Amino acid sequence: MVEILVKNSGVVRLKAAGKAETGMLYAAEAEREIPFAIKRVYFMNGMPPDAVRGNHAHRTLTQIIFAAGGSFTLALDDGATKQTIKMSDPSCGIILGPHLWATMSEFSKDCVILIFADDYYDESEYIRDYAEFLEAIKQDTA
Ligand code: TYD
Repeated sequence: MVEILVKNSGVVRLKAAGKAETGMLYAAEAEREIPFAIKRVYFMNGMPPDAVRGNHAHRTLTQIIFAAGGSFTLALDDGATKQTIKMSDPSCGIILGPHLWATMSEFSKDCVILIFADDYYDESEYIRDYAEFLEAIKQDTA
């Protein structure tokens, strides 16, 4: 059971169907397990074990991240609290809300990361500079 310590996050659980002999199936429906109208789905594979991905926050975007295959480490930082989560259970998604700095690393060879997003890709909505992130979250509490 994952305990979420940072702000603007949470856990989503998918129901699993199938059995070990023939493989598993996980279903995620918009506005049901996924708590928003999905506008974008993307996935990542082929990450070298020593790669680091993410390292940014978003101004407005909410996403849910899954380890659809293999495993990786998800590091979350809300500006005050940090935590790392070992992602290896395909049925367990982590909500990445706005103003949450997220970094992915320690990828297994077979790692496939699946992400559902509540909006289209928009580079201007990223915060890629950590100092700018700290400034942005100050306005949340101001
Ligand atoms: P980025 O979000 O920076 O990936 P990561 O945080 O995992 O390192 O995106 C990497 C590149 O992919 C960037 O040049 C923009 C492009 N991209 C899209 O075109 N559409 C998308 O939906 C996403 C997420 C990225």
